[in-house]
Amino acid sequence: MLVLGIETSCDETGLALFDSKAGLLAHELYSQVAMHQAYGGVVPELASRDHIRRILPLTRAVFSRAQRTLPDLQGVAYTEGPGLAGALLVGAAFANGLALSLGIPSIGIHHLEGHLLSPLLSRRAPQFPFVALLVSGGHTQLMRVEGVGRYALLGETLDDAAGEAFDKTAKLLGLGYPGGPEISRLAERGCAGRFRLPRPMLHSGNLDFSFSGLKTSVLTAARADRLDEQRRADLAHAFQSAIVEVLVAKSLAALHATKLARLVVSGGVGANRQLRAALDAAAARDGFEAFYPEPELCTDNGAMIAHAGALRLARGEGSLARGFSVRPRWNLEEVGRGA
Ligand code: KG4
Ligand code: ZN
Repeated sequence: MLVLGIETSCDETGLALFDSKAGLLAHELYSQVAMHQAYGGVVPELASRDHIRRILPLTRAVFSRAQRTLPDLQGVAYTEGPGLAGALLVGAAFANGLALSLGIPSIGIHHLEGHLLSPLLSRRAPQFPFVALLVSGGHTQLMRVEGVGRYALLGETLDDAAGEAFDKTAKLLGLGYPGGPEISRLAERGCAGRFRLPRPMLHSGNLDFSFSGLKTSVLTAARADRLDEQRRADLAHAFQSAIVEVLVAKSLAALHATKLARLVVSGGVGANRQLRAALDAAAARDGFEAFYPEPELCTDNGAMIAHAGALRLARGEGSLARGFSVRPRWNLEEVGRGA
């Protein structure tokens, strides 16, 4: 089954063609990061308008790269939520218009389900069941995953998401947006042990997180110290280490609580090299397996939506477009198990 995937939930327009048998045939991404950088964050109205500009050329590009044509298409998957309402509507309207014109089914996909299942696109793919650590700009969650649509929340952030903490701290340190890659780059030149930051909720006894206090600690440390370039790098290193330590400890606790031995990491922060290194070291030490999406598929992309869409369409889900909605707020546990 050949499925077109469309991701427009935030500031990336992602298009992809996924074939149930042949796998990912092509994917294209346009990032609006440069446009939003001037504002220090995503401007929703600008994001929606830019998705409109990019979506058709990117669609043409994936068909051309995959050497397929519109009549080959058997389904259209799009991000239905969560995300920015106007941005989601661009993808939903385009997807449903296209599906209706071709007389094929369309399906709305939960953005986090796309992330969660994206490691299945890797050469080394995990088997179900597994624990998923979902770390994106908007979410930080630990889930028990039994299969497609069978997700149980184990713990989540009570305030800022991990990616959000990276973005806000980057701003405090005078770095650009998005903050994760910027902090990660700066931290590589930093020395360990020069700043000591708290490990929020490390010993809370549950699987929840809290990251909003960390940026305050960074601010306090930055104010108490005249930061030259090296000190800034040291502080970025300390911040990254604090987040990584908490994410690793809670992931281990989740594996322990569920008695599972597979951990799947996804979402933008999953691209973080220090996090991957720390999880790989823990996996080797404690005897579990860690799985990641291909680095280019960690952040938002159309491939994860095409892939999740193909899995669901193959189960007889999806419908011939009659009307559509988007869900800017949507809890992953509410996603149906389908047929
Ligand atoms: O999954 P994603 O692309 O979008 C959401 O669904 O939110 O995640 C974006 C987040 C941003 O907060 C960004 O700063 C963070 O992922 N991120 C990183 C890295 N690359 C992206 N955080 C830490 N280290 C990275 N290398
Ligand atoms: Zn995302």
